[in-house]
Amino acid sequence: MHVSCWNINTSTKSFALEYEKPECLKSPLETESRLLVSGGATNPYNRSFDALRLPMLGMMEGPAIKVLSDIQDGIRYVLQTKNEYTLAYHGTGTAGMSGVLDNLIEPGDKILIGVMGYWGNRVANIAKRLGGNVVRMEKPSGSRFFLNEIEAELQRHRPKLLFLVNGESSTGVYQPIEGVGDLCYKYNCITIIDVVATVAQQPINMDKNKIDVIYFNSQKGCGGIVGLSPVSYSPRAMSKIKRRQSLPRIYLTDIKEQADAWYITMPVESPHEAWRHSFSIPTLYSLREALARIVEEGIENVWSRHADTHRLFQARAEKLGLEHFVPNPEDRLIGTSMFKVPPGKDGYKIESYILKK
Ligand SMILES: Cc1ncc(COP(=O)(O)O)c(C=O)c1O
Repeated sequence: MHVSCWNINTSTKSFALEYEKPECLKSPLETESRLLVSGGATNPYNRSFDALRLPMLGMMEGPAIKVLSDIQDGIRYVLQTKNEYTLAYHGTGTAGMSGVLDNLIEPGDKILIGVMGYWGNRVANIAKRLGGNVVRMEKPSGSRFFLNEIEAELQRHRPKLLFLVNGESSTGVYQPIEGVGDLCYKYNCITIIDVVATVAQQPINMDKNKIDVIYFNSQKGCGGIVGLSPVSYSPRAMSKIKRRQSLPRIYLTDIKEQADAWYITMPVESPHEAWRHSFSIPTLYSLREALARIVEEGIENVWSRHADTHRLFQARAEKLGLEHFVPNPEDRLIGTSMFKVPPGKDGYKIESYILKK
């Protein structure tokens, strides 16, 4: 029931409208059922989708505050981390991407960025806008970086920050992160890893791999709906942020403000002091349930399920005679498979056939 004081006595008043009702909104929305297998959002777990219809809670009530802490524990489990500063920004993965860069880059800070496709390039663009001293480390499409190459660039440029994409979904390449954290400890640099295309599909092991900052989105391997971007910052990353001379430029993703809003740095007894902006409660329910679904199955079983599906899919595609875009099987991403368009065929027609069938 929608309760509003405007319902009272409005019948006695008449309002002149300058513009008519839009014709397109006079009928209810109709969509078709799809199995989404593209690079964008995939079909969420039923449990996550159904959660959108759960009764609304006031965002300052105890049960809503408990949803926030459940989500934090779920993100920590999926990433295998104990980081205290773990929460979800409102917005898509791009909010996480620009948010972590905004918190970590102070004007002039040198950031070494691994560019092996669209997403590394996008990060270089954002880092530049934020006044970072951007150093690009590039690889041709279809290949990835080796540890000795990363070390050589760290030694040469001595950056404050290193950015890598764990799953370059624009080329279907998997960038291993084992050993990268150790290198960054050696060269006194903070690691930022985009795990949007690998989270809950391939192991990340954030703490074991000594990764400082990670972001992803709610709608891919996580199995939720689009709208939130989980992030996790290590104590090392937080110590750089706490030593900043200037404030991050974007209030909404300022990790210190959000740490208050998520009760990391505020007691749960002070919701009015913790308040920073309205939370999208149904979207948070949905993420909570996606994470709970992963907890139910066990993250190691979710990884195995994705690996099995990947093997099956690759075998079927090979039987059709399709040629891989990524030559080395070890470098292929599990959740995003890339094949060359067969000679003489129209890639867009194939795409639209797949979507409809
Ligand atoms: C590797 C990678 N990073 C970042 C993003 C951006 O995420 P979003 O579309 O949720 O903003 C995507 C989206 O496909 C991605 O694949």
